[in-house]
Amino acid sequence: MQLLKGEKVYLKLFEEEDIPNRVKWINDPDIQFTLNYDIPTSISKTKRWFANAVMDPTRREFSIFTVEGDKHIGFCGLFNIKTPAMKAELHCVIGEKEYWSGGYGTEAYKLLDEYGFIELGLNKIYGFQLLHNHGAHRVVEKLGWKRDGLLREETYSHGTVKDVYVVSILRKDWLIHNHLNEDDLLLFPNSRHL
Ligand SMILES: CC(C)(COP(=O)(O)OP(=O)(O)OC[C@H]1O[C@@H](n2cnc3c(N)ncnc32)[C@H](O)[C@@H]1OP(=O)(O)O)[C@@H](O)C(=O)NCCC(=O)NCCS
Repeated sequence: MQLLKGEKVYLKLFEEEDIPNRVKWINDPDIQFTLNYDIPTSISKTKRWFANAVMDPTRREFSIFTVEGDKHIGFCGLFNIKTPAMKAELHCVIGEKEYWSGGYGTEAYKLLDEYGFIELGLNKIYGFQLLHNHGAHRVVEKLGWKRDGLLREETYSHGTVKDVYVVSILRKDWLIHNHLNEDDLLLFPNSRHL
C-alpha cells in the first residue's frame, strides 16, 4: 500500500519485511557519520523496536520507495507526536547511498510535512541535525524550515562531543512556503494520500 506518493518517492508504513535493510543501513559507517543512533543494531533488536513502534500512537514509521522501480531506499517517520502542543519530531534516512543528492530525501521530508500538517493536524515539526550534516541542512532550507538554535556540545557520538542544530517548521510558515491557506487543505489532492 502506498500511503503518501510524490514524484520520485512514495512512503508506505514500515513493515517487518523492511527490517533487514534498516539494520544494514543503520550499521553502515557512512550513514552513521551524520546520525547518533544506538549502534550496532541487529535484526532481533530492531524486531523488538518495531513491535513497540507499530503500536505506539506517538509514532508513524514509514519506508521510502522509489516511484520508478519500487526500490526500498530508506526509512523515515514522525515520532514524539505530542498533544496539545501538536508537534512531532521528524527523522529520515536515505540508506541507498547512490540515491544521495538526487532529491529523494527532500521529497520524503516534504511528504512527511504534508502528512504531519494535514493528516495529523500538527502545528510544528522539528528535528535535530548534527553541525556537519550539510546535506540535511540544505534539505530543510529548501522546504522552508528555520534554524531555532544551536545546542552546544549536546550529544556524544563516534568518540566526540558534538553540537546540534534544532530545526523546525511551523504550520503557518509551511502554509506560506507552499502558497496555501487553511481552506486549501480541504481540497488537498487525495491522490497524494492513497
Ligand atoms: C540527509 C539525507 C536524508 C538527505 O537526503 P538526499 O536525498 O541526499 O537529499 P536531497 O538530494 O533531496 O537534498 C540534499 C541537498 O544537500 C546538498 N548536499 C548534499 N551533501 C552536501 C554537502 N556535504 N555539503 C553541502 N550540500 C550538500 C545536495 O546538493 C542537495 O542540495 P541541492 O538540491 O540544492 O543540490 C541523506 O543524505 C541521508 O539519509 N543521510 C544519512 C542519514 C542522515 O543524515 N539523515 C538526516 C539526519 S538529520
